[in-house]
Amino acid sequence: MRIEQLLPYITHDRVVSEIILADILEKDRSFLFAHPEYKIPDPKLDKIKSRIERMNNHEPLAYILGYKEFYGLKFFVDKRVMIPRHDTEELVDQVLNYVRSRISTKPIKICDVGTGGGCIAITLANKLPQAKIYATDISKKALNVAKKNAKYHNVENVVLPDVTPGISTFSRSNKLSLENKITFLKGDLLNPLPERVDVIVANLPYIKTNKIDNLDPQISEWEPRISLDGGKDGKSLYNQLFSQASYHLKTNGIIFYEIDGKIYTKTFKDLRDT
Ligand SMILES: C[S@@+](CC[C@H](N)C(=O)[O-])C[C@H]1O[C@@H](n2cnc3c(N)ncnc32)[C@H](O)[C@@H]1O
Repeated sequence: MRIEQLLPYITHDRVVSEIILADILEKDRSFLFAHPEYKIPDPKLDKIKSRIERMNNHEPLAYILGYKEFYGLKFFVDKRVMIPRHDTEELVDQVLNYVRSRISTKPIKICDVGTGGGCIAITLANKLPQAKIYATDISKKALNVAKKNAKYHNVENVVLPDVTPGISTFSRSNKLSLENKITFLKGDLLNPLPERVDVIVANLPYIKTNKIDNLDPQISEWEPRISLDGGKDGKSLYNQLFSQASYHLKTNGIIFYEIDGKIYTKTFKDLRDT
């Protein structure tokens, strides 16, 4: 089948379909229009048909392609993780600006809570060579995707520590390898952290439970509910995070968080009094 014969069958979302088609043919989208006579090899045609079917099923483009770009970096995504959003790049910017304007020369310790596919933690590790980064998530499936991304970007701390909440059990050799590497920890919010950190960055679920089904089906039917559901008022996880924070932030620690499409900061001046 030639490109010109296939295009009329694409009825759902023309631009997205063209991106899928170009991706499979390993060409630019402009190639499709410049070479309508190009004969699509049969194995590729089967792949195209199956992907277009997935798209007609409302599956998001990023899952179909298997990746999403975030802050100029490529991240593997599938339905185990929420697709990184453009808005969240601003959250990363805020953290980068804060860290770069710090006077202290001590290496900074950061926790990305609810890391999902790891886009925030990995981007920070990539941009902040001196940072020591923890990334937590309650979903083991999401952490597996995050670790794959960290490996791809060469920022994974491969020797996992034996973590008991509140007690650091890193071996000496581990300590030497931690800078610029991310330690992934499974658990509830900040609970798995083995030490206090300077910065917490969070893009936790903040959709009200009863609003989830009203979202675009590409979101409500495909993205993990655990990455969307913020409880009855949408703030349930953030409330828990703020109450845990006093045990896990250093004095003058700061939280950067995204909620309802906005970015906020919360500073904890003296945590012993909080
Ligand atoms: C909105 S997604 C954000 C993913 C990623 N940080 C991003 O910005 O694209 C929220 C993430 O929080 C995780 N999560 C939900 N409840 C959690 C909890 N109690 N403790 C830790 N992580 C949690 C979900 O599994 C999901 O990966």
